[in-house]
Amino acid sequence: MKHKIVAYKALPADVADYLREHAEVVTVDADEPGALGAALKNADGAIGASVKITPAMLDGSRVKALSTISVGYDQFDVPDLTKRGIVLAHTPDVLTESTADTVFSLILASARRVVELADWVKAGHWKASIGPAQYGVDVQGKTLGIVGLGRIGGAVARRAALGFNMKVLYTNRSPNETAEREYGARRVALDDLLSGSDFVCLQVPLTEATRHLIGAEQLRKMKKSAILINASRGATVDEQALIAALEAGTIHGAGLDVFEREPVDSASPLLRMPNVVALPHIGSATHETRHAMARCAAENLVAALAGTLDVNVVNREVLAR
Ligand code: DGY
Repeated sequence: MKHKIVAYKALPADVADYLREHAEVVTVDADEPGALGAALKNADGAIGASVKITPAMLDGSRVKALSTISVGYDQFDVPDLTKRGIVLAHTPDVLTESTADTVFSLILASARRVVELADWVKAGHWKASIGPAQYGVDVQGKTLGIVGLGRIGGAVARRAALGFNMKVLYTNRSPNETAEREYGARRVALDDLLSGSDFVCLQVPLTEATRHLIGAEQLRKMKKSAILINASRGATVDEQALIAALEAGTIHGAGLDVFEREPVDSASPLLRMPNVVALPHIGSATHETRHAMARCAAENLVAALAGTLDVNVVNREVLAR
């Protein structure tokens, strides 16, 4: 008998077809209150993204595998899934390069005021040649501090060192030898990264250890001329502290793809600041990459339910059972 799968995000047609070849697929609108929880009670697995899956939603279910169409898995209680013997799969690698492109576009856009000045031109303010009031700051040759040098951080470091002749500082639980050898990256303590970088870029997953990793104290340690870049998870930064630091001129600006609450409140002071570039969590959002992620997640789920998945597993302890 075919496994029953809940899809709680719209999937590309070919990916949905692939899933239907292997399983019975039930599509659920995750915005409909209670619908996902109810569907999970009668399913073997689920695929989707951007929706919290709580332990209560899994109580009384026979779910054996969950597959998130994302690299981040902060929407799941991983220890609880492991206790239940549920495999959690995610989609690293396929999104590394497009997410690093987003990070770099934030660096360039914030430093060169691309969004602010594009709006200025469209508003009809370009009446004479520009002057210092429209100047930005250089990116090339500056120092980039990367907090968390994993896959995406490594791809950002490559762009910075090889493309923009930047010096790279980083923090990470373990040394990243490739980045040190090939991009001249130097592993330092967080405080040294904060005080020595022109751009501070967060590339850590959201965990209890990284929640509000950057708060008022850390922002005070940054250069007044520095720009904070966040395309990881909003809650790695204390947003109120960031607003206060930007208002007080403690740092120069910010490039943000993520916010503590998404979609960000349209009344957020961040959206009124010309020195803030704000994006709607587009990290991996290209047609090609989102398709590759959906395909990868579908293959992960089918393999997990068949008991053959050996890659992209968040809680490998479950496989050992
Ligand atoms: C992820 O995969 O976790 C990203 O945030 C999606 O862009």
